[in-house]
Amino acid sequence: MPRVTFLHPEGKSGEVPDNVTLLEAAELLGFPLKHECGGNASCSTCRVEVIMGGDHLSEIDFDEQDLLDREALTEPYHRLGCQARVLGDVIVQVPEQKWGATEWADQQRSQVW
Ligand code: FES
Repeated sequence: MPRVTFLHPEGKSGEVPDNVTLLEAAELLGFPLKHECGGNASCSTCRVEVIMGGDHLSEIDFDEQDLLDREALTEPYHRLGCQARVLGDVIVQVPEQKWGATEWADQQRSQVW
């Protein structure tokens, strides 16, 4: 089973079944990932920033890409937690402020991307 890690001051890490969404993984691990639209790809509150394992997430589909484009979340590490499915080990940063990447996350990404 893949290991998913949510980096956040209250973050969680653990193994989850294959093919669950990151939002479902958060719920399984007891991490309160925001999801104001209920997982319908229409709010972006579930967005995360992939630190490692981007190739272990499902491809971005039309609905996810459409919302990412509308919200100007154009970097390849931006994903929607309710749409991205877990196919292998992955580490994601959950922004503490909705639109603000932390300096720490930027440092982590610069070492990986
Ligand atoms: S929960 Fe609203 S876009 Fe994912």
